[in-house]
Amino acid sequence: MVKILENKMLVPNLCQISLAAPEIARVVQPGQFAILRADENGERIPLSISDWDRQQGTITLVYMLVGKTTQKLATLKAGQELPTVAGPLGNPMEIGLFGHVLCVGGCYGIASIYPIARALKDKGNQVTILIEGRSSYLFYWQDKLKSASDRLLRITRDGTAGLRGHIHNLGGVVAALKTPVDRVIINGCNYVMMRGSQESQALGIKTIVSLNTLMIDGTGMCGVCRVTVGSSTKFACVDGPHFDGHEVNWDELNSRRQAYLFEEAQPFRSSKAG
Ligand SMILES: Cc1cc2nc3c(=O)[nH]c(=O)nc-3n(C[C@H](O)[C@H](O)[C@H](O)COP(=O)(O)OP(=O)(O)OC[C@H]3O[C@@H](n4cnc5c(N)ncnc54)[C@H](O)[C@@H]3O)c2cc1C
Ligand code: FES
Repeated sequence: MVKILENKMLVPNLCQISLAAPEIARVVQPGQFAILRADENGERIPLSISDWDRQQGTITLVYMLVGKTTQKLATLKAGQELPTVAGPLGNPMEIGLFGHVLCVGGCYGIASIYPIARALKDKGNQVTILIEGRSSYLFYWQDKLKSASDRLLRITRDGTAGLRGHIHNLGGVVAALKTPVDRVIINGCNYVMMRGSQESQALGIKTIVSLNTLMIDGTGMCGVCRVTVGSSTKFACVDGPHFDGHEVNWDELNSRRQAYLFEEAQPFRSSKAG
């Protein structure tokens, strides 16, 4: 059992949960994730480990309320316990000396890009963070992101902060930067990662994405997280979740991600009926 230390809403539809998990906190690296269950009968869901304190033995996850498990998780209070938290899982993000790295985060990716940017900056890279969202009220962790980067840029669809636009404008953002970008890293929903990768491909900049697939065991046994990258079949949990965004078969990923749409909507149909 893993104790919840804090569970709060950060911005509409996005919550932050901190857990007492010393074994995970001791060894976690940027880009890794945990698989948890919100209750004894619940399904297992993967969430990125977005921050940690090795001394205190705590980890912090930021989650978007999309379906039954994340909504159940949001009802839990500090002092309660989760029956399962397995991790750290997946490969860490490659933290090399690349030069100028543009780290892009949208929705929960605003949090999960943070430890990656921090490690890249500590390594000696110049780090620019770009966060994207519908509106400025959906942004959070901005002070943390500033401390983990050389500059923090924002792009909003309604123009309430930073540039008005979408991830489709990534090319314009890169062109406006004084230093050429050597690598792009994108975290967030698959659409943002796919569109961002298309934009960076046109600019010829290597791009790493952290794929959001369905997962069950997270250890390479069930095959549910299968993706095609280049001409190879990969399992996102053990081979990833970080892959070259220019090589991912996005159509296949999106269609596999929607395989259980009917079942995922079922709890909400039943509760309305009931
Ligand atoms: C390695 C990895 C790391 C992840 N890290 C995080 C994280 O840090 N924070 C986080 O919030 N999520 C993260 N995810 C996604 C997260 O696992 C799912 O959002 C979660 O499983 C949803 O569970 P659920 O039961 O609440 O919703 P489900 O019932 O599984 O889904 C409900 C509906 O929401 C849709 N949906 C599911 N996920 C998303 C999404 N991300 N964006 C838009 N629509 C979606 C589904 O297609 C479905 O229609 C990660 C996924 C992977 C593979
Ligand atoms: S989640 Fe089962 S193989 Fe990846």
